[in-house]
Amino acid sequence: MENIKSYVQQHKDRFINELIELLKIPSVSADTAYSQDVIDTAEAVKESLSKAGCDLVEICDTPGYPIIYGEKIIDPNLPTVLVYGHYDVQPPDPIELWTSPPFEPVIKKTEIHPEGAIFARGACDDKGQMYMHVKALELMVQTNTLPCNVKFMIEGEEEVGSASLAWFVERNQEKLKNDVILISDTGMISNQQPSITTGLRGLSYVEVEVTGPNRDLHSGLYGGAVANPINVLAKMIASLHDEDNHITIPGFYDKVQELSAEERAEMAKAPFSLEKYKNALALNDVYGEKGYVTNERNSIRPTLDVNGIWGGYQGEGAKTVIASKAFAKISMRLVPNQDWHEITELFTKHFTNIAPAGVTVKVTPHHGGQGYVTPIDSIGYKAANMAYTETFGVPAIPVRSGGSIPIVALFEKELKSKTILMGFGLDSDAIHSPNEHFGIFNYLKGIETIPLFYKYFVELSK
Ligand code: BES
Ligand code: MN
Ligand code: MN
Repeated sequence: MENIKSYVQQHKDRFINELIELLKIPSVSADTAYSQDVIDTAEAVKESLSKAGCDLVEICDTPGYPIIYGEKIIDPNLPTVLVYGHYDVQPPDPIELWTSPPFEPVIKKTEIHPEGAIFARGACDDKGQMYMHVKALELMVQTNTLPCNVKFMIEGEEEVGSASLAWFVERNQEKLKNDVILISDTGMISNQQPSITTGLRGLSYVEVEVTGPNRDLHSGLYGGAVANPINVLAKMIASLHDEDNHITIPGFYDKVQELSAEERAEMAKAPFSLEKYKNALALNDVYGEKGYVTNERNSIRPTLDVNGIWGGYQGEGAKTVIASKAFAKISMRLVPNQDWHEITELFTKHFTNIAPAGVTVKVTPHHGGQGYVTPIDSIGYKAANMAYTETFGVPAIPVRSGGSIPIVALFEKELKSKTILMGFGLDSDAIHSPNEHFGIFNYLKGIETIPLFYKYFVELSK
């Protein structure tokens, strides 16, 4: 532990500067305008893994963006940790709401991060958290403390559904063989109270299109006499929740795993202040499914949310028009044991059924994935908890997260191994939002905690 602390202290400025360089490359996977930047980032990640001490690093071509594979095998008889992360980032928009440009990282102090935080798109999700693992490897190699084999698999399409990763994993099962998968792409409760993510929600993401007349119409000449696709879409969307905020799609809850009263009581023990929650988001009240509290609504319960809605005239001034079409993008967060293909089908059927005469409806599924839950009695979980306990001075609390990393369920299916989600971000780090940041404290704590995971994982595996 002392070794680790002093190595981090000695090299922290360089660790921060290296991350800042990586954050300058705008690796936005959703927007093809950035495709060269995404590829350049892959190259930079490869370089960093070689420098950190991997014996083999490859840029693996896929049908989409490349995957970086790296390894350091010290003894085939020792356990192998497979580290997964992503080097792509979300689009930065709305860009005008950033207080500094998203790809010009700067360190600023905040109330929650008095030591400073790096502000940039991807700082927390996931370049900063991924890079902790690269620096932890460097630390273990330089201090001769790497206790086992390590493999890295860093992808560039996580934010757009990981299609190429699924392709890659299916084709490289032998290469990716491991004893545990380690991911830092989630959060923790606070800098005083670490937590380990024991669950992720699944996802079904669809786009809907409602078509009325074959062209945009004068809203005076035709208004009231034909279906207005925007009015209709709004009504259809509103009907997807009832007055208790339950989702109305028939069969939607059929497979939902209900938690026992004991499990819910256990969840309620995690520190949480509703007042702080509301204040942080400037809300006068919270909102959600009747019968569940906020921390249940955002983790163990499935949801349906419109992520974007458009149609008609949006320019300056007024234009009197009935649009021919209206659109929306809708995400459904799923919980164990909902199947995302099944839910996508149920949605499509229901949404088509509720369309009134006078419009036609098209539903286009985007990406999706299964949810995940992991037990807390595995060697991996115990090792992670021991590591956090040592660096934070208090044990970690198991927490089910509302976010999704669909590839985790696929790892279990294809590679037959458990994933440990050691996240170091905070909810307030504004991932996917303007002004995303990652605390310097969190970044350095991550680099300190990861080597201890390796140490305890190998000890407990004996
Ligand atoms: N790292 C996030 C997921 C996350 C964040 C999980 C915080 C738990 C806590 C990941 O990059 C992400 O954004 N995933 C997407 C899904 C993906 C298929 C686009 C998400 O959850 O919206
Ligand atoms: Mn992520
Ligand atoms: Mn993300």
